Amino acid sequence: MILGIGHDICDIRRIEKTLSRHGSRFEKRVFTAAERREADKRGAGKTAYLAKRFAAKEAVFKAFAGRDQSGMRWHHAEVTNAPKGSLQRSPPQLRLGGACAEKLAEWLPPGWEADIHISLSDEFPLASAFVVLAARPGQTG
Ligand SMILES: CC(C)(COP(=O)(O)OP(=O)(O)OC[C@H]1O[C@@H](n2cnc3c(N)ncnc32)[C@H](O)[C@@H]1OP(=O)(O)O)[C@@H](O)C(=O)NCCC(=O)NCCS
Repeated sequence: MILGIGHDICDIRRIEKTLSRHGSRFEKRVFTAAERREADKRGAGKTAYLAKRFAAKEAVFKAFAGRDQSGMRWHHAEVTNAPKGSLQRSPPQLRLGGACAEKLAEWLPPGWEADIHISLSDEFPLASAFVVLAARPGQTG
């Protein structure tokens, strides 16, 4: 059962500008340690990597539209990459923590579990993220 959807687009050049103006202060405020570690491995792709994650955090916030969105912070949504499957590239995985995780848990019908989906895309100068917050009956539900 779908609970909420969120979508966002982000201008990679805007992130580039913010990074050069505020550097690690911006990076640390918005992105988790795991996101920053992975971004640093991406070389020239670092800015697009972070822009997609910036869009993802906005998309998560939007997925809670109409609910209590107070207390949600940038670090409460983390997008890393799952281990590679049969494809060469690693699919993104979204993990929620803090207020985001708490509010999603409150949203679930009793006995149901969260089922979180994310899709990222970029085509310079734009980065985009789409998030689906869903619920599925739990093992014991
Ligand atoms: C609400 C927010 C995501 C909007 O992002 P934005 O880049 O300024 O705006 P966009 O152009 O992408 O989207 C605008 C649309 O977002 C929607 N929107 C506005 N407020 C919203 C809200 N509280 N929840 C969900 N959607 C919202 C509206 O439909 C709006 O378009 P409209 O006014 O024409 O109807 C942003 O202002 C914000 O608060 N970001 C913080 C995100 C955050 O803290 N994330 C941390 C972890 S989740």
